[in-house]
Amino acid sequence: MVSKRVSDIETSVIHEMSRLAGMVDDPAMLSWAKPTTGTPGHIDEGAIEAIQKGLTSGYSTSQGLPVLREAIVEKLKRDNNIEADVSEIIVTVGAIEGLSAAVMALVDPGDEVLTPSPNYSTHIQQIQLANGVPVFVRTVEEENFRLDIDSFKQAITPRTKAFLFCSPCNPTGAVFDEDTLRAVADICMDHDITVITDESYEYFVFDGNRHFSIASIPGMKEHSVSTFTFTKTYAMTGWRIGYMVAGKEMVPQLQKVHIPFAICAPVVSQYAALAALKGSQDCIAEFGEHYLKARNLVCERLDRVPHVFSYQRPQGSYCMFPKIEIEGEKDSLAFSKKLLLEGRVSTTPGVAFGPSGEGHLRLTFCCPEETINKAFDRIEEFYPG
Ligand SMILES: Cc1ncc(COP(=O)(O)O)c(C=O)c1O
Repeated sequence: MVSKRVSDIETSVIHEMSRLAGMVDDPAMLSWAKPTTGTPGHIDEGAIEAIQKGLTSGYSTSQGLPVLREAIVEKLKRDNNIEADVSEIIVTVGAIEGLSAAVMALVDPGDEVLTPSPNYSTHIQQIQLANGVPVFVRTVEEENFRLDIDSFKQAITPRTKAFLFCSPCNPTGAVFDEDTLRAVADICMDHDITVITDESYEYFVFDGNRHFSIASIPGMKEHSVSTFTFTKTYAMTGWRIGYMVAGKEMVPQLQKVHIPFAICAPVVSQYAALAALKGSQDCIAEFGEHYLKARNLVCERLDRVPHVFSYQRPQGSYCMFPKIEIEGEKDSLAFSKKLLLEGRVSTTPGVAFGPSGEGHLRLTFCCPEETINKAFDRIEEFYPG
C-alpha cells in the first residue's frame, strides 16, 4: 500500500492538462514553463570535452566538484551580493532537489511552512511530502501580487518552521522587492523561522525591478537556504543541475538529505554548469530580451480581450496569472479544459497554485511570438468581444 503521505497528495492538474494537450491537434502551448531555446553551444562543448577526457563516469564529491563550487562562490558574490565559502555550497539536481532537501531537513511532521498564495505548486507538494502543513500567506493581487506583511505576521504560530517562496514568482510574475524581503528577514530572525528561497528566475526581471537575495542581508545566510538553478538562466532544463547555499551549521544537515536523495548531481552536468559560469554570459541578456518582448506581446494581446481576462503585468519570470472575467466560467480547471479541447489553447488552471489561484489561469511566455499570436487569435475567435 502506498503511504498516506503520498496518497494524500492529489495528482497534479498540471500533468492532467499535459495529458489532455496530447489529445488535441496542434494546440497553442501557453502552459510550458521551460525555455524553448536550446542550451548554448559552448556549454554543450564543455560537457563533451569532459566526457572525452574521461572525467564524467564516476561520482563527484557529494557537495559537487570543488572547481564548480569555486565558480558558484564567485557568481554569488558578483550577482547576488552573497558572501559564501565553497564549503557552504551544495550542487544539486536542479533547484528542485535542493528545495526538497531543504524542506526535508527543516520540517518535522505537523510543522507549519509559510508560503505565499498563489505559489509554485511543487513547493506545496514538497511541504506535504515532509508531512508539513502549508500555511498560505495573502498576496495583494491588485498590487502585482505583493506579499502582504501583515498577513505574514498573523500567519506565524509556535509551529512555524520555515517560509518558502520564489521570487521572481511562478505563477504570478511578481518580484518581491528589497524592502519586503528586509521586513521578512527581520520577522524571521525574531521568530527563528528559516527562509527557503527559490531564485530560479533571478535574471529575468523587467521594467527596472531588481532581484534581491535575502541571504545577502548580514546574518541571513545562517537563517536561510537559498536555491538557484542553471535551468532557466542557461536554458539547461534537461541537465538537471542547480545549487544551494546555506550557513556552515546547516550544510552538514542538508547533506544528510542530499546524499540519500542524489549522492551527487550528475557529473557531466556539473562540467556543463562550469562551462556556463566560465563562458560568455551574453545568452542571459539575449534570453531576457526575448522574454521581455514576449511579455509585452502577451500583455498587448490580453488588452484586446478584457471581457475574458484582467491581469497584472508580470515584473519577472516568464509566467503570468490573469484572472478570468467571464461570469459563470470562473472554475479554472473547467475553463482551462474547455479552452484546450474546444479552443485549442493550452493553459494551466490557477487552482494548482494554492487557494487564491482559483478563478485564474497561468500563462507562460517562454515560447516563440508566433505561438503567442496563434493562441490569442484562437482566444479572440473563441470568445468574440
Ligand atoms: C519556480 C520554479 N522553481 C524551480 C523550477 C525547476 O527548477 P529546476 O529545473 O532547477 O529543478 C521551476 C521550473 O519550472 C520553477 O518554475
